[in-house]
Amino acid sequence: MSLGALDVWSRIPSPPLRLTAKPEYDFRAGVPDVELFPFGTWRDLLTERLQALPPHSLTYDDPRGHPALRAEIARRLGPSRGIRVPADAVLVTAGSQQALDVAARVLLRPGDRVAMEEPGYPPPRRLFTALSARPVGVRVDAEGIVVDEIPPDCRLVYVTPAHQFPLGVPMSQRRRSELVAWAGRHGAAILEDDYDSEFRFTDDPLGSLYGLDSEHVIHVGSFSKVLLPALRLGYLVAPPRLRRALEKAKYLTDLYAPTIEQATLARFMAEGGFAEHVRRARQEYLDRWNTVNRLLHRDFTGLLTPLPSVAGLHVSASGPDGMWPVVRAARRAGVWLYSLGDFTEPRDSVHGLVFGYGAVRSDRIEPGLNRLRELL
Ligand SMILES: Cc1ncc(COP(=O)(O)O)c(C=O)c1O
Repeated sequence: MSLGALDVWSRIPSPPLRLTAKPEYDFRAGVPDVELFPFGTWRDLLTERLQALPPHSLTYDDPRGHPALRAEIARRLGPSRGIRVPADAVLVTAGSQQALDVAARVLLRPGDRVAMEEPGYPPPRRLFTALSARPVGVRVDAEGIVVDEIPPDCRLVYVTPAHQFPLGVPMSQRRRSELVAWAGRHGAAILEDDYDSEFRFTDDPLGSLYGLDSEHVIHVGSFSKVLLPALRLGYLVAPPRLRRALEKAKYLTDLYAPTIEQATLARFMAEGGFAEHVRRARQEYLDRWNTVNRLLHRDFTGLLTPLPSVAGLHVSASGPDGMWPVVRAARRAGVWLYSLGDFTEPRDSVHGLVFGYGAVRSDRIEPGLNRLRELL
């Protein structure tokens, strides 16, 4: 029996273990507050949609996504991300991870190089490796990915421009222009992972890369941070020449996304509940973002240097070498957080800590950080 690609898969790390109990102080990055989710409204809308959906949509729905949800996403992308596209341009996926998967299947051949932010979000890097592409880490500075250091033969560049994961810095306008110019010159594509940009804490608008260049950028969005990861709903908007291939890839991967959840979300958006939820959640996270920043500046001076970040569900702070033992001791003491070194390849080549505030209530932040402070 040939083992096929099993040797490639054997080099891919296993998925992280799921925590079976909520940590006492939960500073994990990327975890939203489940308690903010509008359970009552959602239950009512779900029941109503189950009764109202016509039988044909309860059999095999459109692989590109439920029409009402595609329309709502397109409507929102204009004002929120400066992306003005018809509903037809939106492809609904199982979270942003599947959007990255279908994009990679369509764009990459075995051996192709893919530029990744370093440090960066691990699942896409592992996905591209599993598809026999070759991820290359590219340094991130205070303005985002250092475009001058992207190897010219990369076919694809994966970035998190609104809120770099994990450093938190937004990509500057200058770097955005350089990046799309680079992609144009090299005929490469850019994957823009816009995972938590709904939570932005300044008035100054930061558009999307797709809004700058709809020829080379695939914009990827997620409902995981803004609602719940468990919904497994995300989407992408691609340049017109890629859309047909992406639709086929989505269809062949899992036929289509769950209709009842899509229809419920569409209704929630159409009735204004989603916009209201985002406003309330943003206010709550703004409060936590302020608290974390204030305490990092007040209590960790000389130990950690907070990095500028004005969006999302985490802030990072650079620190001395050797953070991993601190993180381990903190976890044993009930304070769950990541080190920046968790997000580098090789591990621990950048030093510091990542403070997620999605899953920790405002009044738990100070006691949690005090406990961490004792370990430093
Ligand atoms: C950078 C980044 N992208 C995407 C996601 C979310 O992925 P999904 O939409 O598949 O849940 C996360 C979640 O932690 C993330 O940190």
